[in-house]
Amino acid sequence: MKTAIYYFSATGNSLYAAKFLKETLNAEIFSIPKMLRENNFTANAEKIGFIFPQHYFGLPMLVEEFVRKLEMPNVKYIFAIATCGVPYWGRPFTDLNELLAAKNLRQNASWFLRLVSNYLPLRDTAADWRIKIRYWFAERKLKKISAMVAQNESHDTWEVGKSSGKKYHDDWESRRADLDKNFQCDVEKCVKCGLCERVCPVKNITRPQGFPQWQHNCVECLACINVCPKCAIDLGDVTKGRKRYVHWQIKPSELV
Ligand SMILES: Cc1cc2nc3c(=O)[nH]c(=O)nc-3n(C[C@H](O)[C@H](O)[C@H](O)COP(=O)(O)O)c2cc1C
Ligand code: SF4
Ligand code: SF4
Repeated sequence: MKTAIYYFSATGNSLYAAKFLKETLNAEIFSIPKMLRENNFTANAEKIGFIFPQHYFGLPMLVEEFVRKLEMPNVKYIFAIATCGVPYWGRPFTDLNELLAAKNLRQNASWFLRLVSNYLPLRDTAADWRIKIRYWFAERKLKKISAMVAQNESHDTWEVGKSSGKKYHDDWESRRADLDKNFQCDVEKCVKCGLCERVCPVKNITRPQGFPQWQHNCVECLACINVCPKCAIDLGDVTKGRKRYVHWQIKPSELV
């Protein structure tokens, strides 16, 4: 069965998982922001996977938009993986199922994959020893996921709050035009390398004088703040001094 994996990844966790399954399942992987930019909404594979970070207890905005538009004429098996900081708390698979049901489809299997939270406004990045342990468990889980997907097995994820949290998530989406209002760049630290601009999945950053400026169409993926090699970007004062995070096996250039 031909396998296609559609991924969205701001800081590499979901890309790491997609690359892992690319190897073990001999799959093709496709970037969701790139497909959105190219207006490419046809999936011809029979086995389809969606891999994305959990955002505000649900799906990232771009994943919602993509799934809503995607046509899957030949699909026979659908799986989904939500990478996250805290597993089993949220409704990404409930929401995904609703989007698929509108197309008379349903997901056959879903899993949370706990990695490392990149949500710096909430808390500092985990200590390195904790990250190492999370990576070890994540790889072990991915091997199991891969074996199950290879056999087209069903898997229901146990989720707390899978029917609640919608109001909270919807409220976050409705504030989209304001989500970047606290972003700031320290011009003393910025070396005008442009990486923040290149990683932004929605082209929300311009750099008229070399320093980033945000254009109020942010999906709060937090790629820009985490990839900046000089830690020049902050979200107000709350992220100051916090350790930036990109998955250790992913180069920032792979996120562009
Ligand atoms: C806006 C935003 C909201 C998030 N919400 C949650 C959440 O509700 N639950 C959770 O466990 N992690 C949450 N996270 C953390 C990410 O899901 C986690 O770090 C993910 O693995 C990042 O994947 P990526 O590196 O592929 O972008 C959030 C991150 C962001 C940026
Ligand atoms: S990534 Fe950092 S250093 Fe590079 S242009 Fe953006 S803010 Fe400046
Ligand atoms: S501006 Fe930053 S946080 Fe917002 S979508 Fe772009 S990269 Fe993500």
